[in-house]
Amino acid sequence: EKAGYKHFMLKEIFEQPWAIKETLVGRLSMEHGDVHLPEINIDSTTLAGLSRVVLLACGTSWHAALVGKFLIEQLARVPVEVDYGSEYRYRQPIVSAADLVVVITQSGETADTLAALREARRHGARSIAICNVIGSMATREAEGTVQTHAGPEIGVASTKAFTTQLVALVLLALRIARARGAMTPDQVRPVLQALTELPRHVEQVLSCAPYIEDIARRFYQCSDFLFLGRGMHYPIALEGALKLKEVSYIHAEGYPAGEMKHGPIALIDEHLPVVTLAPRDHVFEKMLGNVQEVKARGGSVIAITEEGEPHLWSLLDPQRDARLVLPPVHPLMSPITMTVPLQLLAYHVAVRRGCDVDQPRNLAKSVTVE
Ligand code: M6R
Repeated sequence: EKAGYKHFMLKEIFEQPWAIKETLVGRLSMEHGDVHLPEINIDSTTLAGLSRVVLLACGTSWHAALVGKFLIEQLARVPVEVDYGSEYRYRQPIVSAADLVVVITQSGETADTLAALREARRHGARSIAICNVIGSMATREAEGTVQTHAGPEIGVASTKAFTTQLVALVLLALRIARARGAMTPDQVRPVLQALTELPRHVEQVLSCAPYIEDIARRFYQCSDFLFLGRGMHYPIALEGALKLKEVSYIHAEGYPAGEMKHGPIALIDEHLPVVTLAPRDHVFEKMLGNVQEVKARGGSVIAITEEGEPHLWSLLDPQRDARLVLPPVHPLMSPITMTVPLQLLAYHVAVRRGCDVDQPRNLAKSVTVE
C-alpha cells in the first residue's frame, strides 16, 4: 500500500502533483475567469456583503490559514482574522452574521476546530469547511464545504493535505474576489493558468529530491534549526519548522525574517543552520539582508530560492552553506512549491536519525480530544 515507497510520508509527498490536480478538477472556468465552488453553499450576494472572513484551524492547517489571510486579503480585499481553534472557542469572539467562518481541517474531526466552528455558528456566522475527508464532522456541521480531494493521508505529518488546502484557499479567495468585484475575469485568468501549471511545477521540485537528501546528510546531526520567510512564506517557514520537529524531534523555530533581529538572532552560531525561503518577490532584497546577518555571525544558511536570481550564491560558502534552486512560478504559487523541499528535508533528516516518520512519538493523526 506504500506503492514502493519506504514510508507513507514519502509516498504522500510524491503524490502532490496528482493531489493538486484532483483539488482543481472541474473548478476552473477560463471562459468566465472564475472558479466553480457551488458546494460552498453561499451565494455571491452574501459573499459580496461579508464584513470579514475568520479562518480557524490547528497545527499545519493553521499554517494554511495564515497563508489564506494573505491570499484573501490581497485578492478579495476583505479583512481576514486567523485564530487557533483552541483559542477561539474560549475567548468570547466578536462574531456576527456578516462574518464568514472558514474552518480548515484535513480530518474534519479535530475537537478544537469543531468547537470553534460551533461557537461561531452559535453567533450566526456563515460557515465553510475546507476538508479532506468526505462525510467528516466538519463537513456535516458547516453550511458548505471545499473538499481538497487529496486522497487518504496516512502519515501523521500532514503533507499533501496541506498543499491542497493552500490550493483550496486560492480557489476560495478567487471566488470571493469575483463575487465582490475585487477582480475582473481578466485578472483571474492568469491565476487560473498558474494553477493549471502547478502540478507540473511541483513535479519539477520533486525532481530535486536527491539534492535535498544531500542537504539532509550534511545537516541531520544539528540539534536546532531556524526557518525564515517573509510575507506568504512566513507561514511556510513555520510549517517547515513544525514538520522537522514532528518527524525528527529536532528543535526548530519558524520566524518572519524581519523578526530575526528582535530576538532569535541571539541563537545564531556555527551550530545553527538557518533555512531561508527566498523567492524572487518584492522582499527578495530583504532576505539577502537576513542571509548576510546570519553569515556575519558564523551561521550556516540553507537557501531555497528561484531560478534566475544571481545574488544569493555569491553570499554563500559552498562548504558550509547549501542552496536549492526551484523553477520560477507565479507569486501566488510559490508558498506551495517552497513547501515541498521543506517536507523532504524533514523526511530525510528524520530517516537519517532513525525516527519513525509515519508514526512520530506522542502524535496522533487526528486529535479528537481537547
Ligand atoms: O485534521 P486537522 O487538519 O484538523 O489537524 C490539525 C492538526 O492536528 C494537524 O495539522 C497536526 O498539526 C499534524 N500533525 C501536522 O503535521
